[in-house]
Amino acid sequence: MDAAEMKKIVAEKAVDTFVKDGMNVGLGTGSTAYFAIKRIGELVAQGYDLTCVATSVQSEGLARECGVKVVDLDEVDKLDITIDGADEVDPDMQLVKGLGGALLREKIVAAASVREVIIVDESKLVEKLGTKAPLPVEVLPFGHEHTRYALQRQGCTPELRMRDGKPFVTDGGNYIYDCRFPEGIANPFFLESRIDVIPGVVENGLFLNTAFDVLVSRTDGTVYRMSGQDI
Ligand code: 5RP
Repeated sequence: MDAAEMKKIVAEKAVDTFVKDGMNVGLGTGSTAYFAIKRIGELVAQGYDLTCVATSVQSEGLARECGVKVVDLDEVDKLDITIDGADEVDPDMQLVKGLGGALLREKIVAAASVREVIIVDESKLVEKLGTKAPLPVEVLPFGHEHTRYALQRQGCTPELRMRDGKPFVTDGGNYIYDCRFPEGIANPFFLESRIDVIPGVVENGLFLNTAFDVLVSRTDGTVYRMSGQDI
């Protein structure tokens, strides 16, 4: 099974397992969340009444194309469920997110969700966060080089994310530094507390104690829940 098929199968399994008629649903961002949004569109076409909140302009556009009703987060009290991807998942279901550039809205939407369900293929599983993917940190453009030095003092090499020769700009109008830790992230909770107090940092890509469950697809096409519950 190729990578796209593994993303599709886990995304569809998550939607079919967790999304019920009448729910408020958070829509993730990225190439795995893409398949979840498509599946949600199919449920809407079958008559499900779903109210959705998107974590990016890109996901909002896709959802609308699929006939899904998208509202602003402040139009709902809470979200029953959000289905989103991740860049790394450790054995305790702690996450790195943000390679798709939507970490700020993703974290706000996750905080408003009763259940944050993460969908990945097994290539995203790591023993230690920061060993495969860099940690994305969203920063204000103002004085961002100074923010970079402060990030560097946390033991990483921050690289400004670029697109078409210019800094990549998030939906919130900010920049992203992708921070590589040579030995991985020893203590994600401590690191998050250090990063969050740096002036100029808007949000970091550590999603700690956020996932209600993680669904993982294997190359043989099977899917399992990291919580150990049956699908
Ligand atoms: C976007 C994200 C994505 O969820 C993450 O990058 C995973 O994306 P993909 O499913 O394309 O690998 O955090 O900000």
